[in-house]
Amino acid sequence: MKKNTNKLPKIGLLYLDHVLRFFDKSNFKGWPNKIETATYHWKNDKERFINEVKRKKIDILIGNIPATAYETFREIARELPNVQFIPSLDTQFSNKSKENVTRFAWKYEIPIPKTYIFYDKSKAEKFIDETDFPKIIKKSYGPSNYGGYFVHKVDSRQEAHNLLAQKKYHPAYFQDFVPMEADVRVMLIGHKPVCAFWRRAPEGEWLTNTSQGGSMDYMDVPKELLDLAVNVSKAANAEYWACDVAVGRDGKFRILECATAFAAFPYIRDWIGQYLMWKFSNGRFSKPNIPLYNWEELGKMDASVLRTLRYITFGNYTPSYDGAYFLDKKVRESEAGEMYLHEMDALFPMLLTEDRKHEEWPSETWNFQDNYGKTVRKVHVKSNPPVSNDESSEQLTQSDIVLDKKRVKKLLTSVKGIGNKKAKHIMDTFDTTDLVHALETAPEKIVEEVSWLKKKVLNKLMKEWKKFKSKL
Ligand SMILES: Nc1ncnc2c1ncn2[C@@H]1O[C@H](COP(=O)(O)OP(=O)(O)O)[C@@H](O)[C@H]1O
Ligand SMILES: [Mg+2]
Repeated sequence: MKKNTNKLPKIGLLYLDHVLRFFDKSNFKGWPNKIETATYHWKNDKERFINEVKRKKIDILIGNIPATAYETFREIARELPNVQFIPSLDTQFSNKSKENVTRFAWKYEIPIPKTYIFYDKSKAEKFIDETDFPKIIKKSYGPSNYGGYFVHKVDSRQEAHNLLAQKKYHPAYFQDFVPMEADVRVMLIGHKPVCAFWRRAPEGEWLTNTSQGGSMDYMDVPKELLDLAVNVSKAANAEYWACDVAVGRDGKFRILECATAFAAFPYIRDWIGQYLMWKFSNGRFSKPNIPLYNWEELGKMDASVLRTLRYITFGNYTPSYDGAYFLDKKVRESEAGEMYLHEMDALFPMLLTEDRKHEEWPSETWNFQDNYGKTVRKVHVKSNPPVSNDESSEQLTQSDIVLDKKRVKKLLTSVKGIGNKKAKHIMDTFDTTDLVHALETAPEKIVEEVSWLKKKVLNKLMKEWKKFKSKL
């Protein structure tokens, strides 16, 4: 018994001063060992915090990192290579900003409203002059970014210019306005939906946030919408996750927001604790059984009750067992036809996340907010004549590669299917900086902007680009 106990990793809960705590020890009921805590005090607290984690010999540090501490914690995580952050910093990438959600969605081809991000004020203004309306403008990043407060619908060029002049949002973040019926918040644990509810706008309004007076209910969330949420959770490799999925008037589903930080009833946080104990105990704790659509039944209770319920457990389904949650008769509609609830439940297994060592979203490449100014300055100097002939000085960090037009043209025309004329068209659409960013971070954007460029040619271009980079 004792020996077994010693094999368990040491868990620590990550807290930050002034930040609401998502977990406490009670969410890990039954964990036999002491659960440590490590609290970040902000302002130059990095080294002290790292030492605290080391001193307490924490193996696994569990908790959400708020947007404003995200970059610091990426640094902290590098200095604690033997500590596993849960959720990982990569999984929490989307917590930092709407821009990050967008870049995550671009990478994994997750449907979102068409989005445009500009760090360059003049480019944003040019965009406003050329695009159509209505558009949505959002503040991408900020400590109090919730509830639609920094989300604006603009109906004309003039309104858009005025708003950006007044708000000075940086970056300028635009989306196509998507008329929507409602949106659905889905919460997942180990990629299994455990709770979902509709949020509808008040009559005549477009904001579906309940904080703006809309309504919510738990019934009949479509299976296909849950499928999308599962795919997003998997793309993020998330132990726990929430997505807001917009249901468009056009019938399409699009992701509006996704994150590991969300408001959840205590019994849901207990489930996450159980899931994590299962993950980290090598089978000593069992996987929680959380039936699909349980929320339709629990959601019939008043929120004041749901706020007090703890440690909810369900029996497993067996056809002959009366005590199981699913009655054999319960069926569901889906695009694939009618299905018994227990059959559908089996299509949504609770899965282990992967333990990864590499960084998927290193800040050198992905912290556009802080990097961009520097990059632009470098690019500016370099892209103005006279261009240095010193080839070796051309490589900065990965995403900061600087090119002159001649080399871009050479790169483009080295691709079979791109001649001089087509190369010129691409170069008229993207300047060198934008092209490098697109190649490095969201190549699908190139296809979006250059209609004749087909996927096959893009793939060839990506190959040439890799070759080209390796020679720099
Ligand atoms: N592209 C869009 N088209 C139409 N409505 C949108 C769009 N983006 C957001 N909304 C509406 O604004 C609300 C708030 O936007 P969201 O991106 O979730 O920001 P917040 O962080 O403020 O919640 C959404 O719930 C939705 O009702
Ligand atoms: Mg929202």
